[in-house]
Amino acid sequence: MITIHTVSELRQLVSAAKAAGKTVGFVPTMGNLHAGHISLINQATANTDFVVSSIFVNPLQFNDKGDLERYPRTLGADQEKLTAAKCDVLFAPDVDEMYPDGQQGQTIVQVPVVSEGLCGGSRPGHFDGVATVVSKLFNMVQPDVAFFGQKDFQQVAVIRKMVADLNLPISIVSVPTMRAKNGLALSSRNGYLSAQELDTATGLYKTLNALAAELQQGKSIATSVENATKNLNAIGFRTDYIEVRRSHDLKPASASDTDLVIIAAAWLGSARLIDNIELTLKPSGE
Ligand code: PAJ
Repeated sequence: MITIHTVSELRQLVSAAKAAGKTVGFVPTMGNLHAGHISLINQATANTDFVVSSIFVNPLQFNDKGDLERYPRTLGADQEKLTAAKCDVLFAPDVDEMYPDGQQGQTIVQVPVVSEGLCGGSRPGHFDGVATVVSKLFNMVQPDVAFFGQKDFQQVAVIRKMVADLNLPISIVSVPTMRAKNGLALSSRNGYLSAQELDTATGLYKTLNALAAELQQGKSIATSVENATKNLNAIGFRTDYIEVRRSHDLKPASASDTDLVIIAAAWLGSARLIDNIELTLKPSGE
C-alpha cells in the first residue's frame, strides 16, 4: 500500500487506475482503525478493483474542541492494518491540504432535515462538517463506490441524501456494524473507557435489544423508550437520546410504521457512545 498526503498525488494515482479500466472504491475514516473499519475495506476490496482509504481527523465536524484534541492518532498501526487488508492507497492529508484557505471561509455543504435531531441535535454543526469533508473527499478521490458503516446510521442517511440531491455519480454501500463478542459496537471512542466501563458499555446494545423486544410485544414506543432510558441511566449511562425512527427516512415513527430503527447515544464516563438496531415489526395478529 502506498501512503500519500497531497491531492495532486491522489489524482495521479486514481487517474492511472481509471485509465487501466479499474473501478475505484473509497473508505473515508478518521483513523485509529479497528475491525469495524477493516470490514469496510474488505467490502471495498471484494467489490471494486482499486481501493482508496483516507485518514483525516476533520476539525470541521467536531463541535467540542477537547474531543478533537484527544481524538486518537495512530498512523503507523493504521498503515499496517490497511496493508494487511490489501488497501491500495492511503490518503492522509493534513489540515492545510484539506482546508488551504482555512476553515472559516470554507464553503459548507448542508443536508437539511435528516441532519437535524438525533446526533445533529446534540452536536450542532456536526453533520455540516461531515457532509462538507465527505463531498470534498468524493471530489478528490472520484470513487465509483463509497463504503460507510451502519453504526453511524444518521451519517449514512445524510451522505445518501447529499449524493442524491447533488447528483453525485457514486454508489453508497452501508456495511453492518461490527461488534465485540459481547455485543458492544466497535468504536475508536471505546478506548476512552476503563475496564469496568467497557463491561457496563455492553448494556447499550442489550438495552436496545430489550426495547426492540418490547416493541415486538406491542408495547408503545413512548413506554418502551422510557423503560430503556431508565435502564441505561440505572446502569451508569447518562442517556443523550433514545429514539425510534422510520429506517428508510429517519422520520419519527408512528404506531402504523413497521420498518424501524432504534437509535441511541449515551455518555459513559467521558465517552459518548452511539448504537442502533433495525427491526421490522410483525403485523399485529401474527
Ligand atoms: P470514523 O468514525 O473513523 O468511521 C469511519 C467509517 O467506519 C464510518 O463509515 C463508520 O460508520 C465506520 N465504522 C465505525 N465503527 C464501525 C463498526 N463497529 N462497524 C462497522 N463500521 C464502522 O465516520 C467517520 O469516521 C467520519 O465522520 C468520516 C465519514 C470519515 C468523515 O470525516
